[in-house]
Amino acid sequence: IQTAALAAIESAPDGQSLEQAKIDFLGKKGRLTAASGLMKTLPKEEKPAFGQSLNLVRGAITAALEEKGAALQEVADREAIAGIDVTLPGREIHSGGLHPLTRIKDDAIQILRRMGFALAEGPEIEDEFHCFDALNTPADHPARNEKDTFYFDSGKLLRTHTSSVQVRTMENQSPPVRIIAPGSAYRRDEIDATHLSVFNQLEGLYVAENVSLADLKGTLVYFFQELFGPDTELQFRPHFFPFTEPSFEIDIKLHIAGRAPKWIEVAGCGIVDPAVFSAISKSRGDEAFSPDKVTGFAFGMGLDRLAMIKWGIKDIRLLIENDTRFLKQFA
Ligand code: PHE
Repeated sequence: IQTAALAAIESAPDGQSLEQAKIDFLGKKGRLTAASGLMKTLPKEEKPAFGQSLNLVRGAITAALEEKGAALQEVADREAIAGIDVTLPGREIHSGGLHPLTRIKDDAIQILRRMGFALAEGPEIEDEFHCFDALNTPADHPARNEKDTFYFDSGKLLRTHTSSVQVRTMENQSPPVRIIAPGSAYRRDEIDATHLSVFNQLEGLYVAENVSLADLKGTLVYFFQELFGPDTELQFRPHFFPFTEPSFEIDIKLHIAGRAPKWIEVAGCGIVDPAVFSAISKSRGDEAFSPDKVTGFAFGMGLDRLAMIKWGIKDIRLLIENDTRFLKQFA
């Protein structure tokens, strides 16, 4: 049996015939199995020796099958790559990356959420009440001008800032309120390297008992140092917004190797003007946000601008053009 088996294995031209040889000799109806059946016909004293030789034969056949299998596989592998130059460099695999705007937004949200701010949102198509009136912005304020704001025939408008979400949140939640609202804002600006008619803001609002300017300052210093590095300096420059008093613009000075440090404006902020709380109280019809009970701070920043500052991007239009030569740098 062994001689016949080894001959069959040796002469097997391919995997299929090798498999057939295996079945013929070792299979359930194979020759070795049949031979094992003879065992019971033998006298007791001959059984051990017979069993042993059966095992030897099985071992020899199994080893031969394995060896031949490996040899056939090697031939098959060699044939598979015949004609292929395996020394050629591999093909580049292009993997996508997050857009710089998405990255800065995610980073900002993550930092502020760690500080206890919850996400809030509001509609991009707003009314004058939520975008202006409730934010203490008088009818003749230049920001409300048709030259600066996109109005619909219905009198609705595309929100000019995410501060409208402050109003919507206070209408629907009770103090303490601690929210951030990232989202689009729209202005009828002339498009150039630093202006688009749609851009991205991130609004923040914290209202509770005894919220102070120190809280505002601590929050924003921590925020910008987390976002841009621990050496980042902040400057609170007095400013005016209708909905905060006092109001500030924040400038930061980055310390990045190879870049000249200079002050750059990054955000507006201030202590919520009591007139805003009065408008909210009137709109809600209760005293939950009475200026006698609560104080708060608010801030708003341009995310496009932050991305440009962080990565030294010189033209805001690069952020919306989807030019892969630009985007690839962030993958
Ligand atoms: N809404 C202001 C802007 O768009 C920014 C701001 C938000 C200022 C909150 C103060 C408080 O310029």
